[in-house]
Amino acid sequence: MNRRLEHKVALVTGGAAGIGAAIVRRFVAEGARVLVGDRDQPRGSALCTELGPATAFQVLDVAEADSFAAALDRAIALWGRLDILVNNAGIALPAATVQETSLDEFDSLVAVNLRSVFLGCKLAYPHLRRSRGCVLNISSMAGVTGQERHAVYGATKGAINALTKCTAVDWGRDGLRINALCPAGVRTETLRQWMQAQPDAAGIETYLNQIHALGYCPDPDEIAIAAAFLCSDEAKFITGHLLPVSGGSECGYNVHAPVPLADPQS
Ligand SMILES: NC(=O)c1ccc[n+]([C@@H]2O[C@H](COP(=O)([O-])OP(=O)(O)OC[C@H]3O[C@@H](n4cnc5c(N)ncnc54)[C@H](O)[C@@H]3O)[C@@H](O)[C@H]2O)c1
Repeated sequence: MNRRLEHKVALVTGGAAGIGAAIVRRFVAEGARVLVGDRDQPRGSALCTELGPATAFQVLDVAEADSFAAALDRAIALWGRLDILVNNAGIALPAATVQETSLDEFDSLVAVNLRSVFLGCKLAYPHLRRSRGCVLNISSMAGVTGQERHAVYGATKGAINALTKCTAVDWGRDGLRINALCPAGVRTETLRQWMQAQPDAAGIETYLNQIHALGYCPDPDEIAIAAAFLCSDEAKFITGHLLPVSGGSECGYNVHAPVPLADPQS
């Protein structure tokens, strides 16, 4: 394992589960100290107990400015600096069309997915300016290509992508980088909940594999590998980039004419 994040301090929002937890594990394995910020205290604390003193848990609601500021203060109090902010926390439900989404549901998706990224960038800026650090936003291909019944979710991710690019221009002269990762599907709790809500569970499994050109829906650790790269000094000249970590899903979905995967032995 590379130790590309040695001496770096990170805050990972939504770090208790799914993609966030995989990023926490990968960052620690690569030498970072990580504050896990999440509203799920039992799960976040259990992860930090497992990973040891390079981690700490902080109750965090990313939609609330005071809560976000307290998490950043905690990272500084613990380790004296902040090098990396991963804006990962997000919600995908309800997965629905515009006409099916209530105004309260719209507000909730925007608050957790988009307001949070704005707050994180704004509040972390002074700390990241000192360390010449970086932000990584966990976005989605739904904000690039669009996705059926994901209108507001996709809108929040599209806005994150625009915020990433505009902020890269604003921050470049300060030596700060900001990028976004765009997965398609990833096998997490959120995805499982969405799958269970679909009328044809078996068909959805096939669909999820087929939307990725590489033929399978990945586990969160495959996203974490790319996250570690973008937050490391190896990516020091990469900013404002939206990186698909999507098995080629954006190249075209293969859902209407499925073909068996090639046998790697043949
Ligand atoms: N799973 C996918 O298929 C997929 C695809 C593309 C993008 N993404 C994005 O990846 C990110 C993580 O998704 P996931 O699938 O790992 O989700 P998940 O539901 O498995 O985990 C999300 C974590 O965020 C936390 N969280 C939710 N709201 C919060 C809040 N207000 N404040 C603090 N913590 C909060 C949850 O407690 C949980 O620990 C999201 O931004 C999501 O949009 C996921």
